Amino acid sequence: MALRIPSLRRAARWVPALCVTLAMLALAGCSPDGYPQTTLAPKADFAELLDQVFRRSFQLATIVFFLVEGALVWALFRFRGKPGDAEPEQNHGNTVLEVVWTAIPAVILVFIAVPTVQTIFKTAEVPTDNPLVIEVTGHQWWWEFRYPEYNLVTAGDMHVPTGRTVDLRMTTGDVLHSFWTPQLAGKRDVFPKRDNRLWFKTETPGTYPGQCAEFCGTQHARMAFQVIAQAPADFDAWRVGLAAVSAPADSGAPAPDSLVARGQQLFATKACVGCHAVSAVGAPTMVGPNLAGVGSRSDIASGWLPNTDENLARWLKNPQAVKSGVLMPNLGLTDEEITALIAYLRSLSVVPAPGAVAMTATGN
Ligand code: CUA
Repeated sequence: MALRIPSLRRAARWVPALCVTLAMLALAGCSPDGYPQTTLAPKADFAELLDQVFRRSFQLATIVFFLVEGALVWALFRFRGKPGDAEPEQNHGNTVLEVVWTAIPAVILVFIAVPTVQTIFKTAEVPTDNPLVIEVTGHQWWWEFRYPEYNLVTAGDMHVPTGRTVDLRMTTGDVLHSFWTPQLAGKRDVFPKRDNRLWFKTETPGTYPGQCAEFCGTQHARMAFQVIAQAPADFDAWRVGLAAVSAPADSGAPAPDSLVARGQQLFATKACVGCHAVSAVGAPTMVGPNLAGVGSRSDIASGWLPNTDENLARWLKNPQAVKSGVLMPNLGLTDEEITALIAYLRSLSVVPAPGAVAMTATGN
């Protein structure tokens, strides 16, 4: 007994560390909805390919772990010293053993390397099955998505149709970024003056969180986006709706004394218009994100804030206080001006709300 209590005390010192580790593992499983930011629940062909390599490597590693640790533990007990034992035989080197434990890992590595290299080549292929091309541009700190087939541009939310391969042509407007939607595809870095490629096809409608995965400045952590996968009919409704969104003056002017008209006038005179386009059709790349459809996006500031009137007001009041380092300056807007601008931004909504039907109907 005298021996056991100190060893128990020593073991007890590890309890807090064990609790923290278990809590971290448990928290890692948390997710705000059914579409977590994880590579372990692939929902597209590209991610499935990666998952197969991961699972194969993990299975082999598990077998190796138990064989090696099992042999180690067995040897510890089988050959442990007892009081009065003579000194064991002393060896230096064993050629047969060394050859065996070099050869076995080499063979195991072949079983990992072959499928890995095959997957690298497969995922680097250029899709030829009539893919939907989307031009992706990273900016500090938001993502731009351009659909040449429809002459449309949007930001923040990348809508894709299910059942059709999307072929991403990716670059950056400033520094290095990395485009990553864990459930759909692997990471791809984006470089200036160079087009990188990435493709995937998903059959499962849903909203998949994505994140910039290359440090790109102070707000790197707040450079999120989502991929909204929609059944083809819903996707078509979204893109037609997006094309229809533009300055209300162009598509039936608001009543001249309305809040929306006041907001639109402020937008044109308070420098907003110098950095943001409000039409998605054929719009050039500007300093700030394209705002067509902003009224119905799920969040603002690149996934940082839910798109509520309250958060929009916080943002317009002082962008630097919400996300310091962004290019948008504090325009010194009054509360009355902010209310009018929010009314105007809400008028730039895609109707019906994108993906509302597809997302609630399918769940996970
Ligand atoms: Cu963009 Cu990190």
